Amino acid sequence: MSGNYESVYQSALQDPEGYWARAAEDIHWYKKWDRVLDDTDAPYYRWYTGGEVNTCYNAVDLHVEHGRGDQAAIIYDSPITGTGRTLTYAELLEETALFAGVLAGNDIGRGDRVIIYMPMVPEALIAMLACARIGAIHSVVFGGFASNELAVRIDDCTPKAIVSASCGIEPGRVVEYKPLLDGAIGMASHKPAQCIVLQRPECEADLVAGRDQDWHDAMSVATPVDCVPVAATDPLYILYTSGTTGQPKGVVRDNGGHIVALKWTMKNIYGTGPGDVYWAASDVGWVVGHSYIVYAPLFNGSTTVLYEGKPVGTPDPGAFWRVISEHGVKVLFTAPTAFRAIKKEDPNGEYLKKYDLSQFECLYLAGERTDPDTLHWAEDKLNVPVIDHWWQTETGWSIAANCRGIEMLAIKEGSPSKPVPGWDLDVLGDDGGPVTPGDIGTLVVKLPLPPGSFPTLWNARERFFDAYLSQFDGYYNTSDAGMIDDEGYVYVMSRTDDIINVAGHRLSTGAIEEVLADHADVAECAVTGVQDALKGQAPLGFLVLNAGCDRPSEEITAEVVQMVRDRIGPVAAFKQAVVVRRLPKTRSGKILRGVMRKIADGEDWQMPATIDDPEVLDEITEALSSIGYPAP
Ligand code: COA
Ligand code: AMP
Repeated sequence: MSGNYESVYQSALQDPEGYWARAAEDIHWYKKWDRVLDDTDAPYYRWYTGGEVNTCYNAVDLHVEHGRGDQAAIIYDSPITGTGRTLTYAELLEETALFAGVLAGNDIGRGDRVIIYMPMVPEALIAMLACARIGAIHSVVFGGFASNELAVRIDDCTPKAIVSASCGIEPGRVVEYKPLLDGAIGMASHKPAQCIVLQRPECEADLVAGRDQDWHDAMSVATPVDCVPVAATDPLYILYTSGTTGQPKGVVRDNGGHIVALKWTMKNIYGTGPGDVYWAASDVGWVVGHSYIVYAPLFNGSTTVLYEGKPVGTPDPGAFWRVISEHGVKVLFTAPTAFRAIKKEDPNGEYLKKYDLSQFECLYLAGERTDPDTLHWAEDKLNVPVIDHWWQTETGWSIAANCRGIEMLAIKEGSPSKPVPGWDLDVLGDDGGPVTPGDIGTLVVKLPLPPGSFPTLWNARERFFDAYLSQFDGYYNTSDAGMIDDEGYVYVMSRTDDIINVAGHRLSTGAIEEVLADHADVAECAVTGVQDALKGQAPLGFLVLNAGCDRPSEEITAEVVQMVRDRIGPVAAFKQAVVVRRLPKTRSGKILRGVMRKIADGEDWQMPATIDDPEVLDEITEALSSIGYPAP
């Protein structure tokens, strides 16, 4: 399908059904669809209704049948444990079929939910694929979340089983998963019948008799099971992502559209084919991990690298270059923050000189805007194209990208290039009308969204509509502000809601505020994302204490920091809060978080006309300066 970007884009725009019907010929169907695009329940659109597929079959079995059984499917590289392992497609098939047998033996079948709470080990991928094999719906929860977050997800998707591991490993510490898992099940109203636990040598977990099974014991007595055909529209997974409150949104992904779209992206966006080594340095707990560590490379018959380590410190800033050269990685996908971490420790790229990167062709960055410094450093040091691309958990693949497999466009600094074929992108003003090219507004996508994007939220059809479709009639609201220039290049500026992006991780400031508000001495609070040289943004809390509270501020701020770590998890990276006398508000009582952020970042700001009491901002400026903001 390579050719000219403009003509491919136009053909997907003019005839989406024809375009995506042709793309769907590239995957295996047990039964072809009755309708390519089903609009009978618009604005809830469905792709390939009537079709029957199996995601695991397309990811694994098909390649073994086509002679790729001996090719590496997964290269597990774990500098944090000093181990590694390569699974061929044939081995992956054997283990996946067996674990599917474990699940089936526990009475888990089509439509049942299974939570996967695991570190970056091959068994996490095997568990995901095994669910897909039997039509069960997996929901992977990132290991950096605390019990409470896991409990919320257990209650929302009511899993029959949880697959977990005894521990994850972070630099300098072993994160015991089992106490977090037991704590979550204790807190949740819904109780899963089984937990299957992978014991890792770094820490053995105690198993609860009658509920917990050892992964290896269960595998040793299981019988392999085959793929079952499921409806193209059946959910493959639920992935929770931050919403504007503490209640996360369960993004649903279907089977048919997901296989078609992701396989298409491997060729057309990333320019990779079967047998190529593709590495997404992310985590299976995030959408990048779902799409580009697990599913897309496997649909494509490529080899995926599963890296359990960090860009720096495992053991040094040459870690990424070692992996690329050792495994012959052709395309790397990661977040700009990883490159900022490497650049900070090895500004001159000395570690690069130790490795042969001759097979490396292209670097893709996403998760946050690629800042010009990082872009130029990576371009200079790696001497390959560095492509920023923009997407969201909801979309599952990129809305805007330089589609290397179609036509490599000129790279413009600060832009993730142009809309990808399938995405009818627009910029609308607050009044719902179009803005002049080059003006900033809300980035919206004209419905229907292409295959592979989310059809709904789990058990929350109305929330789906309210959160994404209600603001601009006929459009999906990305909640990103941005613009499109006169050459059609997209620029993504900031979120229009309270989501912040910390080290490529998406966090809700509203959820952090809910935790702070629970502290006995806190009367009122606000959280905003301030600039952070490494992580892009970092959350900063503002606390107003109850009248009469005379405890030292440092004690209270330390307590709220610990509360966020305990309730949301270390991933929230909430390290700093400041006590203030009052919060700045409008006359109608809305907290002026944006102004506080600008003061903290040292940006120009204007006194809002609607402010209740302008003097509060002097107090905020003073309080921020007492903790070192704006940063020098
Ligand atoms: N399990 C348990 N804890 C975890 C975890 C996991 N899977 N992942 C992260 N954490 C912990 C970290 O150890 C850290 O804990 P600490 O406060 O005790 O130091 C905390 O959560 C914050 O993690 P993070 O924000 O990732 O910061 P970091 O300092 O550990 O690492 C980077 C910073 C930039 C090196 C790292 O974020 C990174 O490699 N990011 C790029 C790739 C990526 O993950 N992108 C995501 C989407 S593409
Ligand atoms: P997540 O759902 O975790 O993938 O986060 C999605 C959000 O991250 C988007 O809505 C953007 O705000 C931000 N984001 C992701 N990729 C980019 C990018 N390339 N440029 C700017 N922002 C991005």
